[in-house]
Amino acid sequence: MLTVVALFTLLFAAEVSIAKVTPLSFNELASFAPYTQFARAAYCPSTKQKDWNCGQACQANENFQITHVAGDGNVMQFYYVGYWPEQNSVVVAHEGTDPEQLVSVLRDLNIPPQRLDPTIFPGVPAGVLAHGGFTDEHALTAATILAQTKEVIANTNATTVTLVGHSLGGALAELDALFMAINLPSDIHVKAVTYGTPRVGNLAWAKYFDSMVPDFVRINNQADIVPIVPGRDLGFAHPHGEIHLLGPGKAVSCPGNDDAVDAQCTIKTVPFITLPDLPLHMLNHLGPYEGISIGTIFCD
Ligand SMILES: *[C@@H]1O[C@H](CO)[C@@H](O)[C@H](O)[C@H]1NC(C)=O
Repeated sequence: MLTVVALFTLLFAAEVSIAKVTPLSFNELASFAPYTQFARAAYCPSTKQKDWNCGQACQANENFQITHVAGDGNVMQFYYVGYWPEQNSVVVAHEGTDPEQLVSVLRDLNIPPQRLDPTIFPGVPAGVLAHGGFTDEHALTAATILAQTKEVIANTNATTVTLVGHSLGGALAELDALFMAINLPSDIHVKAVTYGTPRVGNLAWAKYFDSMVPDFVRINNQADIVPIVPGRDLGFAHPHGEIHLLGPGKAVSCPGNDDAVDAQCTIKTVPFITLPDLPLHMLNHLGPYEGISIGTIFCD
């Protein structure tokens, strides 16, 4: 009897200490489609975004009311801000990187994380560090986007701010999510959904982000390599919220920050970059994310 109890105790202990992946239902997966289309629309030029006339990506969220567009797709990534009536939410979407730029971005990624600018991120603990390339890019638009977001909230009574982005745009959305959580009134709910996002900061960043932005998912597609850079050996770590797409209609939610032990999560699926697999790694970065591909060539 005692042995049986001991065995159960042991099993239960193993159960709680090794966090398990959870398969996503069809409905859970389908619920991300509007966010995926918002992230896709971020790659369209401002000339199309400003009239919310960017083909399928815009039509998928046809009631969206665009209020601000900016960027040149070069020095400053495109971004847009607007109001999403269905969710009574402001949406801020950042453009990401195309595959041809990816290689140079990957090279630039190999620098250690740095302190955050306390004027942009007031009150953040000193050990919280992020990639300087991402924070520099974020700093270009942070104050403007905050002002635009507050303006939309004032005009609509929106109660949520939703940040979306893919690739570099995902990193900017992650930075923006913490930035908004710190700088907006506490009664505004901050949500972020990102795609193929690189690691933004160190483990202290990841843990601080977890506590400040609980409503967060970062969706990774199959063998995409972007989520495994910059390397953990440089001190980088992802926040919570990984959803790993395994194939059409098949995905798992991976617990923890960046320490998933399950073979179905990105960290075990793509332990390192292999040259023969590079074309696949790159291709998977673009999707499809449940049937929706994201990138400049998918803006129509
Ligand atoms: C926002 O709330 C205020 C105060 O309740 C109200 O007067 C105003 O009409 C609301 N605006 C919108 C767009 O719903």
